[in-house]
Amino acid sequence: MDNIIQLENVNKIYGRRVKNKVLSEVNISVEKGSFNSIIGASGSGKTTLLNIMGMLDKPTTGEVYIQGKSIKSIGRNSRAAVRNKSIGFVFQFHYLLPEFNAIQNVLMPYRIKHFFCGRSAKRKAEELLELVGLSECKKKKVYDLSGGQQQRIAIARALMNDPSIVLADEPTGNLDSTNAESIYKLFRQINDKFSTTFIIVTHDVNIANKTDRIIQIKDGQVRD
Ligand SMILES: Nc1ncnc2c1ncn2[C@@H]1O[C@H](COP(=O)(O)OP(=O)(O)OP(=O)(O)O)[C@@H](O)[C@H]1O
Ligand SMILES: [Mg+2]
Repeated sequence: MDNIIQLENVNKIYGRRVKNKVLSEVNISVEKGSFNSIIGASGSGKTTLLNIMGMLDKPTTGEVYIQGKSIKSIGRNSRAAVRNKSIGFVFQFHYLLPEFNAIQNVLMPYRIKHFFCGRSAKRKAEELLELVGLSECKKKKVYDLSGGQQQRIAIARALMNDPSIVLADEPTGNLDSTNAESIYKLFRQINDKFSTTFIIVTHDVNIANKTDRIIQIKDGQVRD
């Protein structure tokens, strides 16, 4: 079995004086190319877990391995590089840049990596916008688009650097069931085609039930 992400005895405690233990001795392995969901009540630690998996946050104690490497052994700058190259994030709040148009937002991870965006990068961003059904919107400013359209741009952006892992935090949270279903299908299509590993935080049981593995967080513990 080839694990792309592995957490060993991970604990996460927020707060210094008043301690809030959000994750308690979490051990979890995510197989390369697998399609997973994370469910749990609001405040149970789903975003915290996802952020630790994506190296956006560190555990208080415990080990995190990404692609077999302990993140402690990777320096700060290379961590950022690994993150930008290997991981596509779809955040709970999309963090698009409202002043930029759709295509410029999709190109952002590429621009961070390469600085200069040539014609092929632009073509790829256009293809991704087409994939998420937004070809007509590519020149529109983000603030002129609906919440669902903005979320789709965020998904296209997450795919721009061909990540091996996509971490998505409530990607369908603001969408009606039809749009939620099409985002699910899109993720599956990408998973099938490129063997991209998916970890999707969701409140939507319909979506969770369609994933290959449901990881449940309760009282700081993870069960599947
Ligand atoms: N940066 C932080 N500093 C202090 N406490 C935090 C921080 N981030 C999260 N928490 C706390 O950790 C707990 C888990 O938060 P988290 O955001 O991981 O939950 P969640 O499962 O994603 O919730 P939701 O479904 O509402 O998004 C909550 O009690 C929250 O208040
Ligand atoms: Mg959350």
